[in-house]
Amino acid sequence: MARTEFISTGLYVPERTLANDELRQWWDTSDEWVRERTGIETRHWVVPGEQAGSDLALEATRIALQRADMAATDLDCIIFATLSPDYFFPGGGVYLQRKLGVTGIPALDIRNQCTGFIYGLSIADAWIRTGQYRRVLLVGAEVHSTGMDFGPAGRDASVLFGDGAGAVILGPTEEEGRGVLSTHLWADGRHAEHLWCESDSSARFPRISHEDLDAGRQYPRMNGREVFKHAVTRMPESVRFALAQNQLSESDIHLLIPHQANLRITEMVQRQLGLRDDQVFSNIQRYGNTTAATIPIALHECVEAGRLGRGDLLLLTAFGSGFTWGSAAVRW
Ligand SMILES: CC(C)(COP(=O)(O)OP(=O)(O)OC[C@H]1O[C@@H](n2cnc3c(N)ncnc32)[C@H](O)[C@@H]1OP(=O)(O)O)[C@@H](O)C(=O)NCCC(=O)NCCS
Repeated sequence: MARTEFISTGLYVPERTLANDELRQWWDTSDEWVRERTGIETRHWVVPGEQAGSDLALEATRIALQRADMAATDLDCIIFATLSPDYFFPGGGVYLQRKLGVTGIPALDIRNQCTGFIYGLSIADAWIRTGQYRRVLLVGAEVHSTGMDFGPAGRDASVLFGDGAGAVILGPTEEEGRGVLSTHLWADGRHAEHLWCESDSSARFPRISHEDLDAGRQYPRMNGREVFKHAVTRMPESVRFALAQNQLSESDIHLLIPHQANLRITEMVQRQLGLRDDQVFSNIQRYGNTTAATIPIALHECVEAGRLGRGDLLLLTAFGSGFTWGSAAVRW
């Protein structure tokens, strides 16, 4: 059976950047606080009303297509991972499809937040290995900045997040030993409310009320300590699981790209796995947490910087709202 290889990657972030100190126009915060606790120095935000998530996804896709020397019409399907779709429904996949001008091909939306890219990779891999689709576009794209609480209660979560998109084009390879070796997914819904957005909600009538708005239920809420605690356990666990499934060990890892949630989380994951600095990639300093987009953005930067050579072992891991988490082992 063929395996799935990464044909190309792309990344796009909006031009507007905000350094930590610029956030002080809204929140009682400081560069020192954000940098020390999260490693973040700056992030990109859209100019509200000018770009939606599907626009960011489109630009990232254009780069991936160009790197692959392919046209949009060569794609067989689209998988779009996001927690911030342009609209409540339909999902972002159809908007990206329309902007790419490829009417007809399927567009699947993935709603697994920070783990969305790995959930999407798992589905793409199954489709490619079974021969259902040959050229799969997998995109992670987020616009967080238009959904933030710019009041005092928002300062803990809002300083973490940035806007951006990463895209990969996946396809089959017959080359012995190469490609996606395995993907692994988990979830634990008991923790759903530790990182969530309550409104609007089809579980209530009306879906959003004045009272909801006054209480700020339309904004993401996060129990940062609980998220931190679980993330630093689940991500190393998921990496070890992926290694064991492939009879590999930590020393075989050429590069680990963890979901970029917080530099402190990444450092703890690295320590627990006993990895050297050169085995772990971080770019949260420049982008903040872009949720479903962090891994494909990081992957594109690694590819462009020549950090992945043919046959290198790449590990991916993510953790996020749900809670959901997952990992993937890839022979580049
Ligand atoms: C959010 C996070 C950085 C907070 O760090 P922390 O060390 O747990 O900080 P605390 O929540 O204990 O807050 C410490 C103090 O800083 C304050 N604070 C919160 N946000 C602040 C901000 N942006 N600027 C300045 N102070 C802030 C708190 O109000 C608290 O003040 P108090 O002691 O007077 O009550 C950390 O919990 C974290 O990274 N969690 C994981 C978040 C994450 O990765 N989410 C995405 C997952 S995919």
